[in-house]
Amino acid sequence: KLCVPTLLTCTAPVNIAVIKYWGKRNEDLILPINSSLSVTLHQNQLKTTTTVASCKHFKEDRIWLNGKEVDINHPRLQSCLREIRRLARKRHSDEENNSEKLNLSQKVHICSVNNFPTAAGLASSAAGYACLVYALAKLYGVQGELSKVARQGSGSACRSMYGGFVQWIMGNRSDGKDSIAEELHPETHWPQLRILILVVSSERKPVGSSAGMQTSVKTSPLLKYRAESVVPQRMKEMVDAIGQRNFEKFAELTMKDSNQFHATCGDTYPPIFYLNDVSKRIMNMVHRYNSHYGNIKAAYTFDAGPNAVIFTLDEDVGEFIELVKEHFPPETNGELFLKGLPVSKVTLS
Ligand code: PMV
Repeated sequence: KLCVPTLLTCTAPVNIAVIKYWGKRNEDLILPINSSLSVTLHQNQLKTTTTVASCKHFKEDRIWLNGKEVDINHPRLQSCLREIRRLARKRHSDEENNSEKLNLSQKVHICSVNNFPTAAGLASSAAGYACLVYALAKLYGVQGELSKVARQGSGSACRSMYGGFVQWIMGNRSDGKDSIAEELHPETHWPQLRILILVVSSERKPVGSSAGMQTSVKTSPLLKYRAESVVPQRMKEMVDAIGQRNFEKFAELTMKDSNQFHATCGDTYPPIFYLNDVSKRIMNMVHRYNSHYGNIKAAYTFDAGPNAVIFTLDEDVGEFIELVKEHFPPETNGELFLKGLPVSKVTLS
């Protein structure tokens, strides 16, 4: 049967955490054991594009990821769909005369594409769920605070609902209503800040973040110490450093937090290793570069994978790229390349 589906397309960018989220206190609602802070990349760099379609003849909800159909019954996907439909029902019953009512029993088809390696520790699920939730919300006419819906898809997704500098406040309620993302500053706050992605490997990570977090929460005493005694103070210092555009402080905290996150992975039993030898060479290169100048001009951070995200200021990007090319000449190491656009154009959003 033919139908004219209602169609909607959205894009959402990746965010890079400078204070990492690792560990849940509630698995179902995705409530974290610590607050976290990230910067959101520009829309036209690493992003997910999602189209949602709804039609009265669709028999079931379906989803395609990078062209391949995947299981719609994944619990996280179901949480997001259920929550958006619940909010839509609520809104429609609040506004009885809503003329543009979409039949809420209609099924949806979802098609989502990433322009970067999926599940290689480049925050693909963050952009993916942020995009899905936003697109579904638009389709169903749902408004308001959506980060807590995106959070239920993938924790870090709540931070991709905003641009610029974003914090995810862990909250302390058991129903998760206060565990939301909040924009600290728009991208215009710090236009000199540059982000470089060094893609070391585009393979899927060996241990997914959900499984990794669960084992860490169960077995790592360092993770408990980090969440209770390190992150609260570090969040405050990071908020100040960003507020004052203090690059040295920002960079130092970023590197220390990445290192502590990977230390908690090593403290997990059995241990989880996301960094490889190339990642470690990048870390050494950054430290040597900084000590050459006697101040911090570049910082690295790594999520659940070996790929490096580098922060520098605009004035140092060119020099840093030369350094990368020297250390990792393409002819001797085909693995490492600079992702995407000319790096001087890599800006925040
Ligand atoms: O949102 P998840 O389940 O993909 O976990 C993300 C975890 C890290 O990327 C390692 C850290 C973070 O805060 O983004």
